[in-house]
Amino acid sequence: MSEHPEQPPFRFPVATRYAGMASSPLKDIFALAARTDVVSFAGGIPDPELFALEDVRDCYDWVLSHQGRRALQYGVSEGEAELREQAALRVARHLPTSAEQIRITSGSQEALFVIAEALLEPGDVVLVESPTYLAAVQAFAVHGARVIGVDTDDGGVLPDALDRAIRTHHPKLVYLIPTFQNPTGRTMDLDRRRAVAAVLERTATVLVEDDPYGDLRFSGEPCPPIASLGAMSAQTLLLHSMSKLMSPGVRIGWIRGEGAVLGTLAVAKAAISMQSSVVDQLTVARYLASKDLDAHVARVCGVYRERRDAMATAIAPVLPAGAHVTRPEGGMFLWASLGHGIDAQAMLAHAVAAGVAYLPGWSFYAEDPDRSTMRLSYVTHAPAVIADAVGRLGEVIATHAERADGVSARV
Ligand SMILES: Cc1ncc(COP(=O)(O)O)c(C=O)c1O
Repeated sequence: MSEHPEQPPFRFPVATRYAGMASSPLKDIFALAARTDVVSFAGGIPDPELFALEDVRDCYDWVLSHQGRRALQYGVSEGEAELREQAALRVARHLPTSAEQIRITSGSQEALFVIAEALLEPGDVVLVESPTYLAAVQAFAVHGARVIGVDTDDGGVLPDALDRAIRTHHPKLVYLIPTFQNPTGRTMDLDRRRAVAAVLERTATVLVEDDPYGDLRFSGEPCPPIASLGAMSAQTLLLHSMSKLMSPGVRIGWIRGEGAVLGTLAVAKAAISMQSSVVDQLTVARYLASKDLDAHVARVCGVYRERRDAMATAIAPVLPAGAHVTRPEGGMFLWASLGHGIDAQAMLAHAVAAGVAYLPGWSFYAEDPDRSTMRLSYVTHAPAVIADAVGRLGEVIATHAERADGVSARV
C-alpha cells in the first residue's frame, strides 16, 4: 500500500526521442521467442544446442588462469590488443587490415550506437535499405537522424534509387547490409556491389556496411565486402559480430575503419561504455587463436541449411497466389510478402493462438511499410518442428487471404 494513496504515481520525464517506446521491438521479439507454447520464428536467435560450449569454457578457464588479473581489470576503449589482432586477421581475408584499424564494441548493436554518437547531428539524414534492420533505424533515430528508406529489389538496394536519394537528401551516411540482409535474407551480387560502390564513391558518401551474417553461407560463392571495392575502404565503416558465429552472449563485435575517424570512434566508445568486457574480449581472442571457428561455423551452416530447406519447402505451397518469398543462400531469415491486403500484424494473434509466431514486417520500414510482409527465422528449430508449425501458419494465412479477398470482392 502506498503511504500517500491520494498522490498520482511519479512520472519520470523521459526524453522525447524515447517517449512512446515503452517497449522496443527487440524486447518484444525476445518475449515471443521465450514462450514455450509457441514455435517462434520471430527472433534471429542462434540455436543454443549448437554453441561450442566446451571450447568456450576452455578459453574462459585459460584466460582466468593465465591472464586473470588483467581480465578482471579495466581495459582500453580501442579494445584489447589480442582481439584486435585476431579481428584484423579475419577482416584481412577480404580487405588488407591491421589491428590499429579495429575498434572493439559490445556487439554490432553497440557499434551502431558508437557510430551514430560519433557521426550524427540532429537533423542529419541516414539512408537505409527499405526494409532494413529495425534496431539500426532506432539507433540512428534516437541520435536525431531522419532515416529515409531507399527502394530495393531481390538483389538489394537499387543503385539508381540510391543515387537519386543521395542527390536529393545529402545524407550523412548510408547504412547497408549487403549479405543475407536482415530482414529479407537477400544478398547483393558483385555487379550490384560495384554499382553501389561507384555511386558512393562519386558522391563521396560514407558507408556503414553491417555484416553479421556473411560467414553463414550455405551455398553460392562468397562476395567481397563493398568496403573492399575501388577506393571504398577509406569511406566505409565495416561492422562484424561474433554473435551469429560464436555466441551472442559474449557481446563482442568490431568496426573496421581508416584514418582520423578511428580516434573519434574510440572517444565515443569511451563515452558510452569505457570499454567492452575485458574478460570476454580476451576469451574471444583466445577462442579465435586456439580453436577452429571456421570448422564450427561450417557445422552450424550444415544444420541451418537443412532448416532453411525445411522452411522453404514447407512455406511455398501454403502461400497464396501472387505472394513472394525469398530463398537466401545463407544467414537466418526468409521474408514473405503475402499481398492480398493481408495485415501480418493483425494476423499475428491468430498465428500465436495456433502456436506459431513470426515477426510482422512493417517495423523494418523507415517509412511506407508493406504491412503484408513477415520475417521468418529458420535457425532455432528442427526441420520436423518447422514443417509442422509452417503448416499451421499456412492455415492461418489461408483464412486471412480468403477473408481479405472476400472483402475486396465486396467493395
Ligand atoms: C543487421 C544486424 N546488425 C546488427 C545486429 C546486432 O547484433 P549484435 O549486437 O548481437 O552483434 C543484428 C542482430 O540481429 C543484425 O541483424
